[in-house]
Amino acid sequence: MAKHGIILVGAGDMGGHHSRAWTEIGQPIVAIVDIDGSRAQKLADRYHVERTFDDYQTAISEMEDADIVDVSVPLDLHLPVTVAAARAKKHVLCEKPLARDLEEADAMQEAVSAAGIKFAVGFQRNLAPGVAFLQEEVRAGHFGRPLLFTADGMGEVRPKRFMHDRFGNNGPVVDLMQHYFLLWETVFESEPVAIEAFGFIAASERPEIAHFKERAIDTAVVTVRYRSGDVGTMTVSWGLAAGTRLPSLPERLIGPKQAAIAGPFRDFSWQGWTIYDGPKEEYHPFPAVYPHALQAQAFIDYVEGKRQAPPSTLQEGKRLLRLSLAALTAIETGQVVAL
Ligand SMILES: NC(=O)c1ccc[n+]([C@@H]2O[C@H](COP(=O)([O-])OP(=O)(O)OC[C@H]3O[C@@H](n4cnc5c(N)ncnc54)[C@H](O)[C@@H]3O)[C@@H](O)[C@H]2O)c1
Repeated sequence: MAKHGIILVGAGDMGGHHSRAWTEIGQPIVAIVDIDGSRAQKLADRYHVERTFDDYQTAISEMEDADIVDVSVPLDLHLPVTVAAARAKKHVLCEKPLARDLEEADAMQEAVSAAGIKFAVGFQRNLAPGVAFLQEEVRAGHFGRPLLFTADGMGEVRPKRFMHDRFGNNGPVVDLMQHYFLLWETVFESEPVAIEAFGFIAASERPEIAHFKERAIDTAVVTVRYRSGDVGTMTVSWGLAAGTRLPSLPERLIGPKQAAIAGPFRDFSWQGWTIYDGPKEEYHPFPAVYPHALQAQAFIDYVEGKRQAPPSTLQEGKRLLRLSLAALTAIETGQVVAL
């Protein structure tokens, strides 16, 4: 396997996961960038990376031999880091969501196509074996149609405050839900046609996020109808009272013939699904995989021309962003948004 050279921008949680993934597939990280030098150094020590930088522009121009930039910084930086990498003709693996709005997404697309580089957006969760399993079960007709897919995500105000910034990661409807939009359309093998949503800011009084000019919607119920007649729905809150440990409910897939409930979700992967078939109940476990490593390998294969497209393309990132924005419009207007 050819060796590439990766510049990792962002040494936080995702930077840590991506470092593990690149290392697991045997691809060298040649530099780590973070405005917090101690974070960059800690990760560099752990993964034996020689160079650290506190500025991505300098890293990109100095590391001439590196051919890949890994964008693992908060959402407001996805566009500028991608543009800098594209100008230097380096391929980009960018964390999800793609961008904050469609203008930014268009600018990313322009930079990528002008430079002729390869680009992927990181929806690694969809590579978990539990997703393909459900897709095959549904395709085989075991659940019957139509289907209802439910999801739930509960938490306190996120320690990463930028998640609550309307001009940052813009709350769970933008930051988290796109994983589920992709999951639903993968399992249903259909496209969304309408979205209805209600939501509010539960944490509006919390001092930790009072400094933002505008806070993001942190609590919502979002329902998407698909052309197939199937429905996906998610309840979410990142605004629970301090110290509340309300557990999130597991995902469920409900059809006229069968129903399923997700097993534990660890390392970004569902460990299994329990299928309910009349009085029968059967647990289907999956082998332990690390979706970030699968994603990293798929990206390398794409860069090397061994596959036509990455697992998630820029266009897909844009499509999922549009859904989040439609959900926010539905919340704001109280109207169903046709897609
Ligand atoms: N794929 C997933 O499942 C998943 C999960 C969580 C987060 N994410 C995405 O990953 C991205 C990063 O999130 P995270 O959870 O790792 O956040 P994080 O706060 O843990 O890490 C972000 C890092 O970026 C650094 N940073 C900020 N500004 C910088 C700059 N100008 N130059 C260099 N470094 C800078 C911060 O110091 C921090 O170390 C976000 O866009 C988020 O949406 C994806």
